[in-house]
Amino acid sequence: MKVLLINGSPNNKGCTYTALSEVAKTLAEQGIETEIVHVGNKDIRGCIGCRKCKTIGKCVFNDVVNEVASKFEQADGIVIGSPVYYASANGTLISFLDRLFYSVPFDKTMKVGAAVVSARRGGCSATFDEINKYFTISGMPITSSQYWNSVHGYTPDDVMKDEEGMQTMRTLGRNMAFLIKCISLGKEKFGLPQKEQRIATNFIK
Ligand SMILES: Cc1cc2nc3c(=O)[nH]c(=O)nc-3n(C[C@H](O)[C@H](O)[C@H](O)COP(=O)(O)O)c2cc1C
Repeated sequence: MKVLLINGSPNNKGCTYTALSEVAKTLAEQGIETEIVHVGNKDIRGCIGCRKCKTIGKCVFNDVVNEVASKFEQADGIVIGSPVYYASANGTLISFLDRLFYSVPFDKTMKVGAAVVSARRGGCSATFDEINKYFTISGMPITSSQYWNSVHGYTPDDVMKDEEGMQTMRTLGRNMAFLIKCISLGKEKFGLPQKEQRIATNFIK
């Protein structure tokens, strides 16, 4: 069982990474393989809405989005980490997520998702909600923790001192491992939920 952790911060070993590492460490203690992928320092353009991915099965821009797509397909869960920028997720991460979630051809149903955010002071819950929406439109159960998954800091050292934040990360890791194991057993016993043919209406007659 594997969880992919996405560092959406431009900083390789900053606050977001510190929070993600605590989740990864706890997941590993629970027997879950982990990989942290740094995307926030890449030059990632936004989605151009060409919809080419619907025919070629990947994004027309062959960059880190397509590299991560295959890792995402193999993973049982994904943790998306972002610093808070103006009470929102980092712009590069949003470009990455729009293109990743729109372009992948595989079924994401029952892959477990979790959002992790880091702020100096404010905007955590808005950013947390923003990231969770990628999961809730994709049939992906969300792992929750003892608080909304956020840490506070301007430096990794600050984050390490945020005891409640770090505990929230560890609880998240344990809850996520449990949920992934339950879903794996459930899939074996009951299979994935039945799917209807998708209806997509555009609010026009
Ligand atoms: C452009 C920019 C905008 C920011 N906006 C906010 C904000 O709205 N609220 C906040 O508390 N911190 C804000 N910050 C601070 C970062 O969110 C915070 O320091 C975060 O922990 C950095 O994570 P990192 O080390 O992983 O990059 C901002 C930082 C930058 C560079």
